[in-house]
Amino acid sequence: TPFSRITGTGSYLPPRRVTNDDLAKDLATRGIETSDQWIVERTGIHARHFAAPDVCSSDLGLEAAKHALEAAGRKASDVDLIIVATSTPDMVFPSSAAILQHKLGIAGCPAFDVQAVCSGFVYALTVADAMIRTGTARCALVIGAEVFSRILDFNDRTTCVLFGDGAGAVVLEASDEPGILASDLHADGKHVGILCVPGHVSGGNVLGTPLLHMDGQAVFKLAVRVLEEAARATLAKAGKTDADIDWLIPHQANIRIMEGTAKKLKLPREKLVVTVHEHGNTSAASIPLALDEAVRSGKVKKGETLMLEGVGGGFTWGAVLLNL
Ligand code: ACO
Repeated sequence: TPFSRITGTGSYLPPRRVTNDDLAKDLATRGIETSDQWIVERTGIHARHFAAPDVCSSDLGLEAAKHALEAAGRKASDVDLIIVATSTPDMVFPSSAAILQHKLGIAGCPAFDVQAVCSGFVYALTVADAMIRTGTARCALVIGAEVFSRILDFNDRTTCVLFGDGAGAVVLEASDEPGILASDLHADGKHVGILCVPGHVSGGNVLGTPLLHMDGQAVFKLAVRVLEEAARATLAKAGKTDADIDWLIPHQANIRIMEGTAKKLKLPREKLVVTVHEHGNTSAASIPLALDEAVRSGKVKKGETLMLEGVGGGFTWGAVLLNL
């Protein structure tokens, strides 16, 4: 079995849905002004979901994983690899993947987190694909799970309106048919300052700020450029062209970045899968959340060719081309 293929998708959103108006009202109590109109015009976001304070990434990821296993017709005991992409882990250590493994009621298989911020899911999928193709695993759970609400600075209106919580998952299995066709991953640490949570734990205290900092315009400019490059490189590796893409499922950060990328790939707007309006930016969870919604709504069908692409803090970026 020389290939890996997605056999099931799942997702989960915490129940509390917060509209732009809800958020604007809440920020007003802190003397901070924003509006539904500003948020919609600049980002395309209408609402996002926030997890309850005692709910962690592994809890959201667990629900998404159960749905993906059910869709794949697999039991938890079939899983022989768990990779969780997250930048908001339950603890400093152990990994959220190890915690999730136990919540799933299994033990023994390798489980680890991948930390590539909003590119986390394409990184994790690429690692799982490589482990399946080398025979290290046959049935992997690849999960993106985040509680970004925990690291938002609600005194900074330029960032706190952009993000949400949630999780998405896929079951990736060894297959005789090609699934993952090619991928292309990158990082450039010189851009660390434009998108980061600079705090760290030291001597029982947090040193530096543990809240998200972003230079939105710098991120925007870099994102549009590198997303096109990664998509083109991935197509070239797979021997495919723009015309072979049935659906573009980009990281859901900002509708303007997503539409800009679709345009550069000469894809009509209808081929762009969009969930940012209802989810906000859920970082590593956004791509598998969008994929699962598109599959469950019947929009994206088995056999179709999907371009997944992510960009985020690091700076990191990458793309995966696959046959569903
Ligand atoms: N409500 C009302 N006004 C606001 C808000 C707000 N929430 N936030 C900023 N403003 C104001 C600013 O103060 C500024 O006012 P001024 O002109 O009086 O100074 C004005 O709106 C314009 O601000 P800009 O920062 O220039 O707005 P811009 O058009 O660049 O949009 C945004 C900001 C949405 C953050 C944009 O830069 C962006 O989307 N960048 C990419 C961010 C992104 O996608 N990040 C995630 C990718 S990686 C990852 O997912 C981790």
